[in-house]
Order: sequence, then structure tokens, then C-alpha cells
Amino acid sequence: ATLTAIMRRTGEVIGMNEYSQKDSQDDPTLPANTRILIDNASLSWGFSILKDKDSQVIDSDQKDINLKNISFEAKSGELIAIVGTVGCGKSTMLAAMMHELEVVEGSVRTNGAKAYVEQEPFIVSGTVKANILFGADYDDDLFDRAIEACCLADDLRQMSDGFDTLIGERGINVSGGQKARISLARAVYAQADIYLLDDPL
Ligand SMILES: Nc1ncnc2c1ncn2[C@@H]1O[C@H](COP(=O)(O)OP(=O)(O)OP(=O)(O)O)[C@@H](O)[C@H]1O
Ligand SMILES: [Mg+2]
Repeated sequence: ATLTAIMRRTGEVIGMNEYSQKDSQDDPTLPANTRILIDNASLSWGFSILKDKDSQVIDSDQKDINLKNISFEAKSGELIAIVGTVGCGKSTMLAAMMHELEVVEGSVRTNGAKAYVEQEPFIVSGTVKANILFGADYDDDLFDRAIEACCLADDLRQMSDGFDTLIGERGINVSGGQKARISLARAVYAQADIYLLDDPL
């Protein structure tokens, strides 16, 4: 129970409560089946500090524009892949949809609960089950479907205690693929309206 409470709290802190709650940044004025609408937006990760060759600050008010003139729409039921070269801003696009970037121009509007699987999947110290539930209540049927959908059944069979196996810092090490599958299962279990999957293949 304590672990659940900690995870709930962690979820709140790192913004993952969108997993189970309505996003406070919902924009109900979007058309009914539009989930994400980015309109001619220029987006910034924040300020960069410009220094001269002697490391003296020249300008600390210089804002890097990381994405320029972006327009994008995603409707309910659509599956959209964003493809591009290394470093071109794919992860930044997803972070923008999570409202993590400053909108310098245009607008970024979303409507619906989001589940975000980051490019670098993460595991917290605890059981496999706790890593998937991430503070949500246990539902037998939903849990089984998440395991099935993310091809975790084989992984769980190989672990000594199945989904009660401790992983993360105080437990066994999981492979990169297992980390990715568990992170994906966490998103599936969250039953969101919008799934943002960074490099899931
Ligand atoms: N958290 C961040 N804070 C500040 N700048 C960032 C952050 N994440 C990415 N950037 C910058 O945004 C630019 C685009 O990076 P991004 O990670 O979005 O590319 P990508 O298309 O996802 O690349 P990859 O194919 O390697 O995953 C880079 O110049 C990077 O330095
Ligand atoms: Mg990326």
C-alpha cells in the first residue's frame, strides 16, 4: 500500500497522473473528435545563455526556437507515425504535445487523457505489477490484456515470481526490451485517449 502511495505521488510529481485523470490542460473548445491540434506553432525548450569566448554572458534572454511553423492534427482513432532523421525533433514534437515546451508562436491544444512512453523507458524499484499499475487500482482483465498486448507473457514466465518479481534498483535487472515492454504496458493499462509513443518499434 505504501509503494502504491509513493507511486501515485511520483506520478503526480513527474506528470504521469495524466495516466488516470483528465488532463487539466484539456481544451474543450476543440472539435469533438480532435485530440491534438497544433496550429502554426513555434516552440522552445527554454532560454539558452549566450556567452562570449571568455565565458562572459552576452545575452541570457535568447530563446532557442526548437520547432518552427509546426502544424499538426490528430483525431480520435487515428494512428500517426512521425518519421525523420536523427535529432530532427521527433521527441520534441511529442514533448510539445505534453505541453512541456514553451509556445512562442501559434498554439498547441490537446483534449483527452494522455499516456506518454518516453524514448528512454524507465522502471521504478518495485514489482513488475507495480511498474505497470503505477498507482492505479488492479483490474485483472485489463492487466491481462496489457500483458498480452505488449508481449510480456514470455518475460513473466522467465521471472521467478512472475509479475510479483522485484525489478529496478533493489530487484533483478531487466533487459532493454523488457523495460520498453513494461513501459508500454503501463501506457496501455492507463487507458488514455491519446498515446504518445516515442520510438516504440
Ligand atoms: N529536454 C530537452 N531540453 C532541451 N533541448 C532538448 C531537449 N530534448 C531535445 N532537445 C533538443 O531538441 C533538438 C531535437 O532533439 P529531439 O530529441 O527532439 O530529436 P529526435 O528527432 O527525437 O532524435 P532521435 O531520432 O535521436 O530520437 C536537439 O537539438 C536537442 O538538443
Ligand atoms: Mg527522439
